[in-house]
Parts: sequence; structure tokens; C-alpha cells
Amino acid sequence: MSSTRIDRTPSQAVTTGTRMPIPSARGPVSELLIALLSGSDANPAAFTAAARGSAGEHDGTSIVFDDDAQLSLTLLYELHLQGLAGVPDEWEWNLDLLAGRAALESSFEAAVRTLVAGHHVEAGDVISQLWAMTAPSTGPSMSKFMATDASTEQFQEVLVHRSLNQLRESDVHTLGIPRLSGAPKAALVEVQADEYGGGRLERMHSTLFANTMRELGLSDRYAHYLDAVPAVTLASLNVLSLFGFHRRLLGALIGHLCAVETTSSLPSKNYSAGLRRLGFGARATLFYDEHVEADSVHEQIAVRDLAGKLAEQDPTTGSDILFGAAACLVFDDLLAEHITGCWDRGDTSLRSSPQ
Ligand SMILES: [Fe+2]
Ligand SMILES: [Fe+2]
Repeated sequence: MSSTRIDRTPSQAVTTGTRMPIPSARGPVSELLIALLSGSDANPAAFTAAARGSAGEHDGTSIVFDDDAQLSLTLLYELHLQGLAGVPDEWEWNLDLLAGRAALESSFEAAVRTLVAGHHVEAGDVISQLWAMTAPSTGPSMSKFMATDASTEQFQEVLVHRSLNQLRESDVHTLGIPRLSGAPKAALVEVQADEYGGGRLERMHSTLFANTMRELGLSDRYAHYLDAVPAVTLASLNVLSLFGFHRRLLGALIGHLCAVETTSSLPSKNYSAGLRRLGFGARATLFYDEHVEADSVHEQIAVRDLAGKLAEQDPTTGSDILFGAAACLVFDDLLAEHITGCWDRGDTSLRSSPQ
């Protein structure tokens, strides 16, 4: 494979609380958005018009692979999360930006529904369907390749793809807590408490992931590799934000979490084995070792006590729960196909080297 230069950072203390850096634009919509957020005198209404124009040009699933649209959505969602470096927080509720986001989201949600339509999604017994959808396959998988064959450089690439989400692991799923009540709320709190290390910084899963990145010679700065990841990686991030920022998609957010938890334990075992095969120690593997243990418990809580009880409370959420789970699986597959497809051709799965 061709080599990818990855910005190396010496091992240092965990960097927390940083904002997303302003990335390079990937087209006219993100260029207008970045100009606005960077303090130019560009007209916010021009951004709205550009976003609507972009959304209108897409059909089928094309927006999922559109760098310009996906980067714009990532930045617009980030205004509600840790924020963007040097960008005033007032932009969070700017009506022109929200209107542009709504246009992009409408096209993106339609694309996600098209992608998921090929999968078996229907209302019914939510618990048994979740187990069936997320059952481990016996065929070849990316995690098995990582266990037995992947190089250190390939591990670095995978960590870079995952870093956008894992360095803020769980934050978007947490948005479900205030929207739930009763047993499902208690179940989500129980899972999330573990994700945040029971309130101990050194045990937070985002901290463990940062440790793994540093052990592999990567920067653990929040969103440091934003410029390096392709549209499909951003789309997998954005579909979670789409579910998290819309109360009407609460069921999909819960279903997404169920799919994360039920498909984590076995692959984590493979990733840990691969890192040990390459000579990395416990500090590098702890993130994965922790998920082997924790997610074998989390999957039970998420499927039975969270999704199952939510569907009992409100049977209309059943189809949305399955939709969210299917969407998570579809985007995991798309990202894995992208990465392994690039590797099979001898290419890097990342965009041009981050500076
Ligand atoms: Fe976790
Ligand atoms: Fe978990």
C-alpha cells in the first residue's frame, strides 16, 4: 500500500476540552460555511441558498459520498457539541445556518432511509429482531483481518477514521437521556455511566481511546484528523448526530446504540489481539480489552432494558429502533468496505495527509 504521512505527536498528557479545528473546505457549501464561521462578512443567507442547492442536486444515496455536504453537516452539528476553534458560540442557533442544515439533513435522511431499505427492518418483536440483525457473521471481517494480518500503519488508519467519534465517545447517545423516562432512562444512564468511566477521567472510554492513539504515535487532539477522513467516515458520524439532535428520531438513536453495543465485544477482542501481535502493550489494548468485557454487559442492558422497555412504553418506536440499528450497521459496512477496498488496491483509505 502507499504510505500515508500521519502527523506524529510525542506521548503526552491527555488533551481534553479542545474544540474542533477549522478544516479545509471541500466545495462551495463548506467554503461559504467556513468563511462565515471564520468571521468573514459573507452573507449567511448565501450559505442557506448554497446548502439548499446542494441538497436539491442529490438523489438516491449520493449525498452520503459528497465531501462538501458531509463536512458541512459535521461542522453544523459540532456547533452544538464541543464547538469550533475560534468560532463564537452564537452561531449555534443562527437561523440561516439552521435552515441550511435542515436542507442538507432532509436529503441525507432520505439517503439513509434508501440505504436501510435494503435491510430487513420492520416493526414487531424488537428484542429478537435486534439480536438477529446484529448476530456475528461467520464470514471474513475487517476485525479478523486486523487480528491476523494488519500492519501498524493500517491500525493507524483505522484509529484515524474512528477518532472523530471515539474521542467524544458516547456524547451523542447521551442526548437520549433527557428524552426518556422510567425504565429505559435508567437503562441508558447505566450504560452511559460505564462509558464515562463511572466519573473517573482515566477510565472514560474516550480517554482509553486517546491512550491507544498516543501509543500508536498518533495525535489524540480532538478532531485533529478531520481533514484526513473521507465523506463516508463523516457520514457515519453525521448519521448519529442526525438521530441525536432530533427528538422525533429518539427510537433511531436508541437503536443505533443497541447496534454499537451488540457488535463491539467480538471485534474488540480481534483488535486487541492484532495490537498485541504487533508488539503493543496493555496501554494500547486497554480500550479494546475494556469493550470486550463492558459491551458483553451493555448489549444486554441496551437491547432488553433500554430498547425493549422503550418499545413496551411506546410501541410506535419499534420500527424506528430497528431503523436506527440498521443504519448503524449499514454505515459500519460502508466504512469497512471503503477501508478494505482501498487496501486491496494498495491505496491509503485516508485523504491527503493531514498537516
Ligand atoms: Fe465504550
Ligand atoms: Fe458500551
